[in-house]
Amino acid sequence: PDVKPAPTQCVGPVYRSESQKPTAAVSTGVEFDTVTILPQTPQLIALLSIIRDRNTQRGDFIFYANRIIRLLVEEGLNHLPTVEHTVTTPVGRTYEGLAFQGKICGVSIMRAGEAMEQGLRECCRSVRIGKILIQRDEESAQPRLFYDKLPDDIADRWVLLLDPMLATGGSAIMAVDVLKSRGVPEERILFLNVLASPQGIQNFATKFPKLQVVTAFVDQGLDEKNYITPGLGDFGDRYYTV
Ligand code: URA
Repeated sequence: PDVKPAPTQCVGPVYRSESQKPTAAVSTGVEFDTVTILPQTPQLIALLSIIRDRNTQRGDFIFYANRIIRLLVEEGLNHLPTVEHTVTTPVGRTYEGLAFQGKICGVSIMRAGEAMEQGLRECCRSVRIGKILIQRDEESAQPRLFYDKLPDDIADRWVLLLDPMLATGGSAIMAVDVLKSRGVPEERILFLNVLASPQGIQNFATKFPKLQVVTAFVDQGLDEKNYITPGLGDFGDRYYTV
């Protein structure tokens, strides 16, 4: 009631009444306790709008995708265990805080997942990062493991698995199977993802009920070529191809 109508032309913040709020599509909800969707803030929706736009050029795509990745990493770190940790401040008082417990590493699913490595390095100094290359087998159309390079002691670490796009879930499921075969328990894997399809989330979260997923957005679906819709196209092409 005490909200003033917005001037037609203005600079700076505009205070709108409820009925004047802009509408924007926010993430589809999911029924899995293990899946965290980032808060659908105006900032996140604006960042996603830029990277979804087909007219966004590569430099801007990289910059704004990196900002979303940074949000994912920061949220992902909240899912790692901590212990109580008291410090003494420069004025001689104590502060009862927390410290992270346990070693971590990143594992990127090539090629698009490599785009998330920098965001992880910015938050976790000197973090070790392994790689997994999975590609669709031309004949069987099934995902196939082509290459992996993982830390020797990966079984003793928490693993942040990185892939920006979760379409059918085939590659991510295979990547987790590889990690499990190297001794990493499912509950010590955290999957960080920019955009998921409902089918991908369903397949992945059903297969791995103890594995935490952090995603920025669950989209509407998949098209006939298994691209996420409305999606953002091919993430790797847009990030790496001039
Ligand atoms: N990988 C992509 O890069 N985009 C999609 O839409 C699906 C998978």
